[in-house]
Amino acid sequence: MTARRIDGKAAAAALRERVAAGVAAFRAKAGRAPGLATVLVGEDPASAVYIRSKNRATAEAGMESFHHQLPDTISEAELLDLVGRLNADPAVDGILVQLPLPGHIDASRVIETIEPSKDVDGFHAMNAGRLATGLPAMVPCTPLGCLQMLKDELGSLSGANAVVIGRSNIVGKPMAQLLLGESATVTIAHSRTRDLPDVVRRADVVVAAVGRPEMVRGDWIKPGAIVIDVGINRVPTDDGKGRLVGDVAFDEAAEVAAAITPVPGGVGPMTIAMLMRNTLVAAHRRAG
Ligand code: GUN
Repeated sequence: MTARRIDGKAAAAALRERVAAGVAAFRAKAGRAPGLATVLVGEDPASAVYIRSKNRATAEAGMESFHHQLPDTISEAELLDLVGRLNADPAVDGILVQLPLPGHIDASRVIETIEPSKDVDGFHAMNAGRLATGLPAMVPCTPLGCLQMLKDELGSLSGANAVVIGRSNIVGKPMAQLLLGESATVTIAHSRTRDLPDVVRRADVVVAAVGRPEMVRGDWIKPGAIVIDVGINRVPTDDGKGRLVGDVAFDEAAEVAAAITPVPGGVGPMTIAMLMRNTLVAAHRRAG
């Protein structure tokens, strides 16, 4: 291995410490703690793990955590009603409805019902549009965490060739907008991209967010590139426990890249730390 291993846990710990200090200052000024409401519909085990981590981090940052656990039989109308009540609740600064939602609920309708100033996921069309037009916005946590790690590595991204693999509203598109905002030359590649390995070979910065285990191979990576792996995929192992791998073949890519994020311990911890940051930012903006 020649690449530096980008330590997402350490970067996240540093950010969480800054957020906790900001929370203490907010409490002193506003006389209350910032509050984050999380909503989990159903019992998907992976979603339950994420929500537990988010709620634990909220408490550790000194913020109020309001968790709403709902059965997967709940109707869309009932969920929209809860979102409406959270929108109106002055103790709630941020609202996070964990995705995916059961098939009978229209996730877009739920997201568009969240008050944009409380949309700490940054998924509302108002926030996506504000990000795309360069206005202050709530920015999705995962791409925000990726950008922070890239800036920590490179300083300036101006003029860099950045290839984002994946075009989701949650990661790929906002990631591309953030990189454009840093004056990178941005390519968004996806499942229909022709000659994907050749496209990736031109990249100084690669952000892989496709959800396909170890799809990006070492010989796709330009020597000296920075590789950010957003994928979290569980693959089977002989002992039946399974193993987490990213979208990048780590050992191969680490032979070529200048720096690379591991899975786990890379992007994941930064995502949660950015959620804490977004909640504090939302609290400040709402408090004026
Ligand atoms: N499901 C997977 N990632 C996310 C996320 O960042 N936010 C929400 N709300 N749901 C998710």
